[in-house]
Amino acid sequence: APSPIVAPSILAADFARLAEEARAVEGAADWLHVDVMDNHFVPNLTIGLPVVQSLLAATSLPFDVHLMIEDPRRWAPAYADAGAYNVTFHAEACDDPVALAKELRSAGARAGLAIDRDTPIEPYLELLPSFDTLLIMTIKAGFGGQRFIPELLDKVRAARRHVAGGHLELRIEVDGGIAADTIEQAAAAGADAFVAGTAVYGAADPAEAVRRLKRLAEQ
Ligand code: DX5
Ligand code: ZN
Repeated sequence: APSPIVAPSILAADFARLAEEARAVEGAADWLHVDVMDNHFVPNLTIGLPVVQSLLAATSLPFDVHLMIEDPRRWAPAYADAGAYNVTFHAEACDDPVALAKELRSAGARAGLAIDRDTPIEPYLELLPSFDTLLIMTIKAGFGGQRFIPELLDKVRAARRHVAGGHLELRIEVDGGIAADTIEQAAAAGADAFVAGTAVYGAADPAEAVRRLKRLAEQ
């Protein structure tokens, strides 16, 4: 199995010091997870393209952009053009996920499909060859600091079974409530990329928190 990816979410960082907070996990984190929320797809509002563009220039980390927005076809390609490594949009917000994935890949980014808490995984399994990342929410999207919902790992197991032996490049990512006490069960279910907000930026030493999560995910 490929080594696990840990992606700290800057949703739990100090938004007045985003560049410093990103640099604090350089060398430890694999990706920087950037939550873009529009107050329509989810009832919360974060940052958009101008802030992401500036932050991209301030750190060497690959960006894992998680778009929690309506109409991702309007915005997702611009994040790829800006230099995001992975651009993930929600299945619930897009009527032609495969077409948008193609656009993202041709703009030079990895394409990610996100599945929110109440969305079944089965209808999307056949689309996975068009994607590089499958993000399975382990909470309801919208806010950090929520409690991990272990039942949602059934979707991770179903996706892992589906891709076993086949599409080896696909990362199965979990997002929501990932911490030292939940990451092992997510890894055992078949996840190999882990978003952690509170567990990283709530820690006294964010880089050490990332390294600890990585060790736990490897076992
Ligand atoms: C919430 C975001 C998550 C959030 C996770 O909708 O997608 O990335 O930052 O935060 P924690 O790790 O605190 O659950
Ligand atoms: Zn996220």
